[in-house]
Amino acid sequence: MNPDTLPSSLHLAAAVAEYQEASVVASCLRAVARMKIPDAIGDEALELAELARITGADAAALSRVLRLLEAHEFVSLEHERVRLTARGALLRSDVIPSLWTMFAAPGFADAAHKLEHTLRTGQPAFAEAHKMPFWEFLRHHQNEAQLFDENMRRQGELLNLTMLEQIEAPHDAVVVDVGGGTGSLLCALLAKHPGARGVLVDRADVIERARKAVNDTGAADRVSLVAGDLMEEIPEGDCYLLARILHDWSDRDAQKILAGIRRAAHPSSVLNILEMVVPEGSGRDVSKYSDITMLGLFDGGRERTEEEFAGLLSSCGWALDKVVTAPNGMVPTRVLVARVGPLPASGIVG
Ligand SMILES: C[S@@+](CC[C@H](N)C(=O)[O-])C[C@H]1O[C@@H](n2cnc3c(N)ncnc32)[C@H](O)[C@@H]1O
Repeated sequence: MNPDTLPSSLHLAAAVAEYQEASVVASCLRAVARMKIPDAIGDEALELAELARITGADAAALSRVLRLLEAHEFVSLEHERVRLTARGALLRSDVIPSLWTMFAAPGFADAAHKLEHTLRTGQPAFAEAHKMPFWEFLRHHQNEAQLFDENMRRQGELLNLTMLEQIEAPHDAVVVDVGGGTGSLLCALLAKHPGARGVLVDRADVIERARKAVNDTGAADRVSLVAGDLMEEIPEGDCYLLARILHDWSDRDAQKILAGIRRAAHPSSVLNILEMVVPEGSGRDVSKYSDITMLGLFDGGRERTEEEFAGLLSSCGWALDKVVTAPNGMVPTRVLVARVGPLPASGIVG
């Protein structure tokens, strides 16, 4: 090819190819996070051979992976010694904030190679890859389930806990956290409202792990733990939390959840939904990336626009009152505050 007549689209091609490189970098970050290599490096520079020995890595493969991660400024390498950069240090498990579980925990990365199946069928890539739905997979793989819970707890610190001020909860409320994981959001909210009591509802194995986590907080004597199904009976409360739950479910299932809460609610109960909201327009927004992770993981999982939330809520007897944004979240999670509204003429869907 004559260099003077190279098509200008070659520059474009290089820019597009960067996505391919980024996906390989992401795979390397996942692998080193799962092997806790950043923890093993710690604060000091460490000999590569020693790092390989203590983490059980193949020394030659490790040095090549670290060479790529050096090029992306996660580590620096000098004379066969490796050191974490400020970015790389975020992958340690013992720092705040820590992105360790974001890369190490089970999730979209375990399904990405089957996304074509999702694109062809609309069905979740994860179930195609693992022959079972995501929640069932966690039930069968308790180590992965623990990592998942830990990821939710840590992500919650970066996302949910920045929303505490925006969550509407009467001071002496019974607060029911539906699908509340190991309870970090609920306990933080109770710490803010000493007169309030909490009910944490989640799957049985999660509730077992929540017991210890809740006991380690000052709120343990005000929290009831309920091993239950969020599609079934929901405890009565003045204030409900649904943090990062509805995006795991199809509209039909989301309606079942919202209808169940509506049945348990009393006329002045308030519902706080913590989710991303997909903005109008074609711009880049983290909710659009998260939407595809939900598409790949869950049957019908999706991020929603404000209009879609309002429609779902009103079909289940809730009225969307306001959508508030936290000033400092890592990504723009919102609190959608809903109040008990009129029942649809056709009865509650779900
Ligand atoms: C994405 S996590 C969110 C956890 C927590 N609300 C947070 O924001 O950190 C979804 C939660 O829903 C729970 N879950 C999934 N299916 C459930 C079911 N059928 N009944 C009760 N909880 C369920 C999971 O165990 C998990 O804790």
